[in-house]
Amino acid sequence: MKKILINYAHPAKSRSTVNRSLIKTTNSLEGLTVNDLYANYPDFLIDVEREQALCEAHDIIIFQHPFYWYSTPAIMKEWLDLVLEHGWAYGSKGHQLEGKIFLQAISSGADAETYQPSGYNEFTYAELTTPYRATAKLCNMTWLPPFVVSGVHRGLAQDELQKHTDDYLKTLTALRDDQIDLVLAGQQETLNSDLNSVIKAGM
Ligand SMILES: Cc1cc2nc3c(=O)[nH]c(=O)nc-3n(C[C@H](O)[C@H](O)[C@H](O)COP(=O)(O)O)c2cc1C
Repeated sequence: MKKILINYAHPAKSRSTVNRSLIKTTNSLEGLTVNDLYANYPDFLIDVEREQALCEAHDIIIFQHPFYWYSTPAIMKEWLDLVLEHGWAYGSKGHQLEGKIFLQAISSGADAETYQPSGYNEFTYAELTTPYRATAKLCNMTWLPPFVVSGVHRGLAQDELQKHTDDYLKTLTALRDDQIDLVLAGQQETLNSDLNSVIKAGM
């Protein structure tokens, strides 16, 4: 059983709908740690040793956050800047993240259709998350395309939100149990665009 770390970065949790639902469902999963970055570091004074130890103790590192300005809330950038040290995360002596899985779980206000070349936002989620893919590559991690919940601004119906929440739990369970076809998943636009096709048969 693989161990999952969720680095949760939401600066306004009390007003959240989507992330609140996604993070709540993780309670039921054994072998998973939620690390609430804004709760732990309200002043952005990140404890690098603690964060590195957490990463070392887990096999799958997920950053769950709302999409902010086509990117992440600020604390995730701070986390990357401080925690991914040369000689620990990368460089000739930096191998601590090697082989671990990197995944972003993103909620976005705009609809998925807008994140297409012909759409309002023009660029795809895969393109906009390229710096994180490059970061994962530098650290010799296995990058997966983001798990995305879109269209939050139009107001998700309760059954739509429940479906995304169920899919998130399914994704986490499959990752934990090594049931995701990583090669196939790596070719998807988003991890959950066709979730059943990337989960190995029998689950
Ligand atoms: C500062 C800020 C920047 C945002 N930038 C984007 C963006 O670039 N693209 C987008 O689709 N939504 C954007 N949004 C909308 C959020 O992604 C959306 O409110 C959030 O995913 C809802 O999730 P929640 O219910 O968990 O809060 C932004 C919201 C805020 C407050």
